Amino acid sequence: MKLLRAKDYNDMSREAAKLIAAQVILKENCVLGLATGSTPVGAYKQLIEWQKKGELTFAKTVTVNLDEYCGLPATHAQSYRSFMRENLFDRIDIRPENTHLPNGAAADPEAECAAYDARIEAFGGIDLQLLGIGHNGHIGFNEPDEHFTMPTHRVRLSADTRQANARFFEGDPSGVPEFAITMGMRHILQAKKILLVANGAQKLAVLDRALGGPVTPHLPASLLQLHNDLTVIVTE
Ligand code: GLP
Repeated sequence: MKLLRAKDYNDMSREAAKLIAAQVILKENCVLGLATGSTPVGAYKQLIEWQKKGELTFAKTVTVNLDEYCGLPATHAQSYRSFMRENLFDRIDIRPENTHLPNGAAADPEAECAAYDARIEAFGGIDLQLLGIGHNGHIGFNEPDEHFTMPTHRVRLSADTRQANARFFEGDPSGVPEFAITMGMRHILQAKKILLVANGAQKLAVLDRALGGPVTPHLPASLLQLHNDLTVIVTE
């Protein structure tokens, strides 16, 4: 594992953006695994800036996102599809058809999950997976549980997660969807490279337990210890 200490959020974002840009430059048709949440937003801003300046292009890049809420149409302001459009996709030269998220409104979520995994496999897997981390150690929406779930799956969001994400739903945890579809641990762990960004003391504490303690499904991010190309960027 490579641990980079950034002096602040801007520095963390710039360092993360550099690694993502390097991937896109080295392999223009790469598959980027992307994440939502507030932490990666600064890195996305930096990538937008570099793309606008012509320093990189996403014209051939394929993206697969980690997760999507169930029950929200893709056009809902708080869907992760909307989040990604607003914070990245609509502001760079990526082709919309190359951007993939699970369909949270699918009538048959099980079939949707299987199809999402099949799509990732057809792309040949993920070259670089960007991750944030939840306060409870979740990655994507792989919540603490008695076991790790390998395939993409529908998950009941924990009370902690709904509370943490209430800020996007007028502060009301009951407004946060109860279920989501998340990429499972398999495709996350099979990504050729993983880049995890964490900002702030609370995140550092959970990361410390995840990367320094036992590997346990009670702290899903702990499974990342097994990955052999993991870069973690934290703010001091
Ligand atoms: C959500 C996302 C995760 C993300 C987490 C942390 O739950 N599903 O992928 O890592 O939020 O978000 P934030 O970066 O806003 O703390």
